Amino acid sequence: MTRIAIYPGSFDPVTRGHEDIVRRSLQLADKLVVAVAVNLDKAPLFTLDERVNLLKTVFQDESRVEVRSFDGLLADFAREEGARIVIRGLRAFSDFDYESQMALMNRQLYPELETVFLVPALHLTYLSSSLVREVARLNGDVSTLVHPVVDQTLREKFSG
Ligand code: PNS
Repeated sequence: MTRIAIYPGSFDPVTRGHEDIVRRSLQLADKLVVAVAVNLDKAPLFTLDERVNLLKTVFQDESRVEVRSFDGLLADFAREEGARIVIRGLRAFSDFDYESQMALMNRQLYPELETVFLVPALHLTYLSSSLVREVARLNGDVSTLVHPVVDQTLREKFSG
């Protein structure tokens, strides 16, 4: 049986923290679907295509990683993909309240779906896409926090 896990998020943009969670997830699953959410409450910096393409470039050497976008409910997409595991990264305890609400709602919608929380490497714990966007927008150096292709794309975005 192929164990399929799904790792959903906004990935606006993908960071070294997301990469760390993907690599850890591959120890638990045979195949990982990185699922980029189409509908976001806030307008994203990167378009859906940009977010998907950056992820595809970053994980091009990981044959067990598939990058997809999804619209609508995560529970429905997970069912369509045959996934019974949802991966979420948990950085600080403050993440837990929202994350546990989502996990319980997803279980309500799809009882066979288990949410697994993974803790990133210590040096990536403070990292978030929103901080990366803000620092890059203000011309700060984020080159150690994101893949070189993401760094380059951020520079192009904010170069005027
Ligand atoms: O990276 P994010 O912004 O924390 O990801 C949040 C995301 C996209 C995983 C979450 O908002 C989601 O699952 N959206 C899809 C719509 C859905 O299923 N909503 C109900 C969640 S219980």
